[in-house]
Amino acid sequence: MSITTGDFRAKITASTLLERKQRQEIITCLTAYDYAGARLVDEAGIDIVLVGDSLAQVMLGYENTLPVTMHEMLHHTRAVRRGVKRAFLVADMPFASYHVSQRESLRNAARFIKDAGAEAVKIEGGEKRARLVQRIVEAEIPVVGHIGLTPQSVHAMGGYKVQGKTLAAVEQLMHDAIALERAGACCIVLEGIPREVASMITHELEIPTIGIGAGPECDGQVLVYHDLLGLTFAPPAKFVRQYADVGTVISNALTAFKNDVKSGAYPADAESYHLPKETLSALQTIAERKHAVQL
Ligand code: KIV
Repeated sequence: MSITTGDFRAKITASTLLERKQRQEIITCLTAYDYAGARLVDEAGIDIVLVGDSLAQVMLGYENTLPVTMHEMLHHTRAVRRGVKRAFLVADMPFASYHVSQRESLRNAARFIKDAGAEAVKIEGGEKRARLVQRIVEAEIPVVGHIGLTPQSVHAMGGYKVQGKTLAAVEQLMHDAIALERAGACCIVLEGIPREVASMITHELEIPTIGIGAGPECDGQVLVYHDLLGLTFAPPAKFVRQYADVGTVISNALTAFKNDVKSGAYPADAESYHLPKETLSALQTIAERKHAVQL
């Protein structure tokens, strides 16, 4: 066992997140979908790794999050599990995996923990999901809530629109947040809502809020890995801060490889394997003998 210095390498759990809020220490969260990405996120010291169903768009090329399946989410969660040591690992329950019956929802939630190694599941929706959240928590599975702009409701919302703009909508969001907290959620993602509303909810709740497009007063912030790195093919949303242009770096590298192969510049002699001297001289002797016989 190794001794860690400070709490930088200490394992993050659902209780750590609550303590962070109590100590007013900000929580960081990023999505990851594969082993390499998960390792980089975890080793950067990010607190929560979310295998988001945004996987549907950024990894699998679907138009929205609705088509992604349990099978696909489990497959990617397993890969992420192998790359994460310290962060709290949360998996998104995909659309229709928790909408049909409580029994099926519980079984699906348990698969993320038992078969894929997640430490919590995330479920979209507020008050109307509270009973289900309570049942999943009773089954010893931590649950992360998600309210505001919930991408799985894209058709019901009539598009990806900022939520919580009217008084009634603000009241409903507050009810949603409180219902999830009472149901036992360990934290709540607030997506696409006015900063002022996110701030009110954050102050009202004892559990942490993690914002995305919800302003700076949340207890933590989350971004999609591909958005932060500049690996997407569409213009980013207003709230996205792109920290690198990895798409251009990759694209330039791929073009350079193609050009080097076509021109013969790759591989160079230094990038080639060589025969041992004795084998080479034996081959040369054989070739010389053959040549002499032919003459
Ligand atoms: O799927 C996802 O990536 C998410 C985050 C944006 C919160 O739910």
